[in-house]
Amino acid sequence: MTTEAQHVIEIEHLTKRYGELLAVNDISFSVRKGEVFAFLGANGAGKTTTVEIIETTRTPTSGKVRLLGMDVTRRKRDLVHRIGVLPQGFSSFDRITVRETIQYYSRIFGCRNADIDGLIQLADLKDKTQEQFKNLSGGLRQRLGIAVALVNDPEVVFLDEPTTGLDPRARREVWKVLLGLKNKGKTIFLTTHYMEEAEFLADRVAIISKGKIVALDSPGNLTESNANYMVLTLQSVDARASGIIRQAGFEPVHDTRWNIQVRLERADDVQKILNAIQAGGASFLGLDVRKPNLEEVFLRLTGEALHEGPAGERGKE
Ligand SMILES: Nc1ncnc2c1ncn2[C@@H]1O[C@H](COP(=O)(O)OP(=O)(O)OP(=O)(O)O)[C@@H](O)[C@H]1O
Ligand SMILES: [Mg+2]
Repeated sequence: MTTEAQHVIEIEHLTKRYGELLAVNDISFSVRKGEVFAFLGANGAGKTTTVEIIETTRTPTSGKVRLLGMDVTRRKRDLVHRIGVLPQGFSSFDRITVRETIQYYSRIFGCRNADIDGLIQLADLKDKTQEQFKNLSGGLRQRLGIAVALVNDPEVVFLDEPTTGLDPRARREVWKVLLGLKNKGKTIFLTTHYMEEAEFLADRVAIISKGKIVALDSPGNLTESNANYMVLTLQSVDARASGIIRQAGFEPVHDTRWNIQVRLERADDVQKILNAIQAGGASFLGLDVRKPNLEEVFLRLTGEALHEGPAGERGKE
């Protein structure tokens, strides 16, 4: 039996149907105290449905969901004070300022002692406290949403696609805020379309596809066990290189007309190829060796591309 100290979320055989549609299909997993756990999946994979069942907003069709040791369908009132939620597509009142928004949500959640200045600091909103919601950029809105999710100093924080639709710089600003949260020891449950986000923030990642979890591990282990190879790219190679690489027993793939990529199983294969090219008198201008990233793992496991559309856009079939 697990305890609350080890696992703050425990899910067994969770299923959610919407009529004929099986949106979440018999999934089981646990989230440990203090970890950042990411649900990585394409549009419609079942991320929001799962998150909203855990945070007590939606009701499961079947299965067991325990949060902080309590059954989410029976203990909503006890749980609501101990969790924070940034819903997908967070929005607030247009004409209310940043500070007023945080104060307002503190009041409606009954948190008289909320540390408003601390939240403003954590979300890096110091220069924007008098700005009205309607004038905030997407990144600032999301950071305000995170501050709002924290008014009750929750133990577990749920963030549904906190950076979808943001430009890369704004996304990194949100990541900084989330790292600050992680350092405070909060357990964070995050959903995302973005591999780099999962890779950068998460201790463990569950890849979800069509309502099923197809893999769950640390980003490092996921790539290690599902894509245990390296990719060598030779830039601006001359015409003979392909034949030489083939003769050395490897299968080159042309990335562009002048670049060749070779998938390698062993580190010393790099040297073998370079030796063969040198011995054959061919040349190249540059080279790059890299491990596959989560994107390659995701493609391999799901056969899907991760949609990266603007905020709020949903890829319905
Ligand atoms: N309230 C609902 N009623 C009917 N169908 C729903 C409802 N909510 C979600 N669905 C459907 O369930 C499936 C999973 O949706 P969900 O919103 O959980 O996916 P998601 O992974 O969060 O997708 P996105 O990346 O677009 O936010 C989708 O096919 C969606 O259309
Ligand atoms: Mg969603």
